[in-house]
Amino acid sequence: MRAIEIPQDLALTLRRATRVVVLTGAGISAESGVPTFRDAQTGLWAKFDPRELATPSAFARNPRLVWDWYASRREALAGIVPNPGHVALARMDALVHDFLLATQNVDGLHERAGSRRLVELHGNIARVKCSREHRVVAKWETPGGDLPPPCPHCGALLRPDVVWFEEMLPEDALARAERAARRAEVMLVVGTSAEVWPAAALPRHAKAAGARLVEVNPEATPLSEVADDVLRARAGIALPALVAAAWPDAPHAAPAV
Ligand code: OAD
Repeated sequence: MRAIEIPQDLALTLRRATRVVVLTGAGISAESGVPTFRDAQTGLWAKFDPRELATPSAFARNPRLVWDWYASRREALAGIVPNPGHVALARMDALVHDFLLATQNVDGLHERAGSRRLVELHGNIARVKCSREHRVVAKWETPGGDLPPPCPHCGALLRPDVVWFEEMLPEDALARAERAARRAEVMLVVGTSAEVWPAAALPRHAKAAGARLVEVNPEATPLSEVADDVLRARAGIALPALVAAAWPDAPHAAPAV
């Protein structure tokens, strides 16, 4: 894999920074084998557009189809592990005084890689909640027939604990990410097309507050022209290189499995 040159002053700025925020999107999980939203859907779901499945109206119209789509994505995740990009951010979490990772991803890979100071802006596909009370349910039986399982407390349908289009993000997660973005010295934006709001506002808050904005993405995005640095590479290459350049003397933790 092609190595990448990290600008010396970026490495130094990152090393000296006491407040760092990172926003990630589907691109950081691409090298783990998780398709991004803008990639074509694969297999059975090729004929569906996520924007037609991940909505409250899709769930109202055909709850079992939406339930099965998430169940198939949960199953696909069982065989997937964090990649060096996730591991590099977990190491950064341990090296920076005031660090926050805000992810739009629902795959749980950041937590599995060891990230601790983490907010999941769009929920987590491994969690299921009641569609009426929004209380998370730990265990459920998936019946046959054409409905998702019923909530064991109130009987309403269960649904994945993820944010759908047209839905509000978890208030506390978003507020925590906004607070951190507005006081960041450095903000990394990794593997996101930066087109879905309000997450896409976070880098702009950081930039307006004077943070050094760094984009890590093999493709250009609307953020590219406002970023101070653009690492035009895959996260699995750029992030380990960035951590090694900023903290050359830090012990190189073995990748999480
Ligand atoms: P997208 O699929 O919109 O964008 C993925 C981004 O990752 C693109 O800019 C790719 O160029 C980039 N990318 C691909 N491979 C990469 C790699 N190896 N390393 C780094 N970057 C790579 O996914 P998101 O931006 O995450 O929301 O989409 C944001 C939201 O839109 C999702 O959270 C979801 C979706 O609707 C909800 O479900 C609410």
